[in-house]
Amino acid sequence: MMMKRTTAITSLNGLEQMLFCDDVEVLKASFLEMQHLYQSATREISTKLEILDDEFQFIHKRNPIHHMQSRIKSIKSIFEKLNRKELEISMESAKANLHDIAGIRVVCYYIEDIYMIAKMLTQQDDIELIRETDYIKNPKPNGYRSLHLVVKVPVFFSDGKEWVPVEIQIRTMAMDFWASLEHQLKYKTIDAIPPSVVRELQECADTIADTDLRMQRIYKTIEQFNDNAD
Ligand code: GTP
Ligand code: MG
Repeated sequence: MMMKRTTAITSLNGLEQMLFCDDVEVLKASFLEMQHLYQSATREISTKLEILDDEFQFIHKRNPIHHMQSRIKSIKSIFEKLNRKELEISMESAKANLHDIAGIRVVCYYIEDIYMIAKMLTQQDDIELIRETDYIKNPKPNGYRSLHLVVKVPVFFSDGKEWVPVEIQIRTMAMDFWASLEHQLKYKTIDAIPPSVVRELQECADTIADTDLRMQRIYKTIEQFNDNAD
C-alpha cells in the first residue's frame, strides 16, 4: 500500500505546472482519492471474473481465463488524454469524460470463452453495460482484435455508493500475442510504420485469427471425442 502511494505522488512531479495548480497537496489528495475509487472498482470486477473462472473450472474441468492484468491510468496519462481531447483538465472532468481510467485485460484460451465471459459478467444485475465494441467480428484496419466492454459497477463506501466505469478488454492468448508485439513495435518506431510493414502486420493478424479458429475446432473435436467415450 505504501509503495502505491509513493508511486502516485512521484508521478505528479512536473504536472503542477501543466495544471496551473498552486496547491499541490490538494491535487495529490484528490488524485489519491480517485485512484482508490478506481482501484476498488477494478477489484470488484476482478473478483467477479475470478468467481466465474472458478465455477467454470468446477463444472467443465478447465479454466476459460488464462490470466488477467489490471491497471489504473497514471495521472500523467489522464491529463495528457484530456489535453489531447481538448477537454477541461481536472479530476472532475477526468471522472466525467474518461471511461478507461480503470482497465482490466482478460486473456482467454478460446474465442468462445471471450463471449461466454462477457455474457456472464454483463448479465449480473449490479453491472451496467455502457459500451461494447467487438473488434473480433470487426477487426481494426491494422488487424487488432479484442472484445472491448465498458461497464459500470457500484462501489460501496462508508457514506454511500458510487457507480464507477471500468474498461474491460477480453481477448485470446493469440490476440494478446499480436497486440503486445504490435504495441511494442508502434512505440519503437519514431516515424510512421511503412505501408509494407503495415500490410505484413495485418497478414500476421489474419494468420493468427485463423490459427485461433483451428485451435478452437481441435478443442471441440477432442471434447466431442471425450463425450462419446463417456
Ligand atoms: P481512446 O480514447 O483512444 O481510448 O479511444 P477508444 O476508447 O475508442 O479506444 P479503443 O477501444 O480503440 O482502444 C482502447 C485500448 O485498446 C487501447 O488503449 C489499447 O490498449 C487497445 N487497443 C486499441 N487499438 C489497438 C491497436 O491497434 N493495437 C494495440 N496493440 N492495442 C490497441
Ligand atoms: Mg480507451
